[in-house]
Amino acid sequence: FQASRAASLLPQLLLRRRPAPAGAFALLARPASSASGGLPPLTTEIHPGIKRGAFSQLTDADLSAFEAIVGGDHVIKDADEVLSYNIDWLRICRGQGQLVLRPKTTEEVSAIVRHCNKRRLAVVPQGGNTGLVGGSVPLFDEIVISTSRMNSLLSIDPVSGVLVAEAGCVLEQLDREAASQGLMMPLDLGAKGSCQIGGNLATNAGGLRLLRYGSLRGTTLGLEAVLPTGQVLDCLTTLRKDNTGYDIKQLLIGSEGTLGIITKAAILCPARPKSVQLAFLGLDSFQAVLDTYRLARRSLGEILSAFEFIDSESMRAVKQNLGLSCPLGEHSFYVLAETSGSNETHDREKLDGFIESVMSMDGCATDGTVAQDAGQFAHLWSLRERIVESLLVDGYEYKYDVSLPLADIYRLVEHMRTRLDGRVIRTAGYGHLGDGNLHLNFTTPKFDAKVLELIEPHVFDWVRDRRGSVSAEHGLGLKKSQYIRHSKADFAVRVMAEVKRLLDPNGIMNPYKVLPDE
Ligand code: FAD
Ligand code: MLT
Ligand code: ZN
Repeated sequence: FQASRAASLLPQLLLRRRPAPAGAFALLARPASSASGGLPPLTTEIHPGIKRGAFSQLTDADLSAFEAIVGGDHVIKDADEVLSYNIDWLRICRGQGQLVLRPKTTEEVSAIVRHCNKRRLAVVPQGGNTGLVGGSVPLFDEIVISTSRMNSLLSIDPVSGVLVAEAGCVLEQLDREAASQGLMMPLDLGAKGSCQIGGNLATNAGGLRLLRYGSLRGTTLGLEAVLPTGQVLDCLTTLRKDNTGYDIKQLLIGSEGTLGIITKAAILCPARPKSVQLAFLGLDSFQAVLDTYRLARRSLGEILSAFEFIDSESMRAVKQNLGLSCPLGEHSFYVLAETSGSNETHDREKLDGFIESVMSMDGCATDGTVAQDAGQFAHLWSLRERIVESLLVDGYEYKYDVSLPLADIYRLVEHMRTRLDGRVIRTAGYGHLGDGNLHLNFTTPKFDAKVLELIEPHVFDWVRDRRGSVSAEHGLGLKKSQYIRHSKADFAVRVMAEVKRLLDPNGIMNPYKVLPDE
């Protein structure tokens, strides 16, 4: 499964179809780690400066009203059951919510929100709870509105490729339904087994194939949402073209649950590719990664569907902490270059040509392999997709997700590695190179306030000074909200605050998230 130079690699280039999804949907696992052993500290202890808004307290009359709307079985009050809705996937946030509501329909969501707005009860929309910026869980006693029961696929049109689904549908499940019609979901991410399409839209999730299929801002044709007053905003069109006024759905996409609860969406799905191939390369400098990307763009062109990079520290984490094996020897960097196309012969010629050029160009890739079957394909992807999970095994993870000009991407990792030398277990950099998106991570055995002080705000200042974005794809949530001005002009933030006030006059919808304190 390994080859060292072009000559030995090329004969192995057999075309493989993308493996079929697994038969059952496994919920995304978290590793057992020292940090996940006990409960994370309360978020209010970590952020003592955040004060509870002037919201009402829950009463028995509220509980009776909710029971009348969703039925007693879907009003969760038991503290043990509520706990998992209070803790985020990274286990860095723990809220003090006491109530979870699980509506089934848009009408139920609307009735709940109308009641909460009238009573000034704060709420948090929650999908799969895989968000990485503390946006999906309460801080104080906000009521969690879970979309998990709103999980019906409403329609798929195999001709136009338009899929309409309720917000609580799990991404992987939708992709499987799309596959049955020769289609695919336009986004794919490591959390696909748990994250929901509503959460994907609310975070404007990017993922592994954005460079090919574009952002959800482009592939979402319509959506329905319940606004903070309880009104239903019906923009659920399935049209490709609709220039009638402002595109209000774009406000909801990426709003992280602060402007309303997305209840349904219409997504444009591309045709599922007939042939998918994956090359895995070892490289010895970041310049070689950039040169390889340039070559990939030039020689793979329209069939390039992913270009991901992994640094040696990230690779060490998946090997040491998860026991995964890497088919290549030690390298400073690794690249996954995937192609998806419709003509196997044509695609194969292109990938052959690309690998030949990469291997023969001095200072480019020095080692490589191509997935020969579904098992190898899945294994190679797991080396990339499971990094986030492997880092958690170290204990505590400080996670950053930034956009930078390509030339600066790895400079930030090197700069921070030097700055934190001796204080962290590792500084790991990997990400969606084709999108200019770096995932920068630091780990320590347990939370260390001194380490955090060395990282923030320094890392955000560094990104701002190069006109990058302090949140490429994960959003601002609670964790990054105070840094929004690093990437958005003051006036733009003021306009956002006006929009928030207009749609959510009582500020009940996911308070303390996205927008900074006044
Ligand atoms: P949640 O975590 O439940 O919520 C996220 C935010 O959206 C919260 O602010 C919440 O209030 C809001 N929200 C949720 N549902 C709704 C709704 N119906 N209406 C309004 N607001 C709502 N992100 C990427 O961009 N690219 C990746 O490659 C990627 N990979 C990941 C891999 C792993 C292993 C994990 C754990 C996370 C990853 N993420 C990635 C982060 C995460 O943003 C996505 O997993 C996903 O988009 C979140 O969906 P969710 O249903 O879990 O939302
Ligand atoms: C990824 O690309 O794997 C996700 O965005 C999560 C992460 O930051 O690792
Ligand atoms: Zn990512």
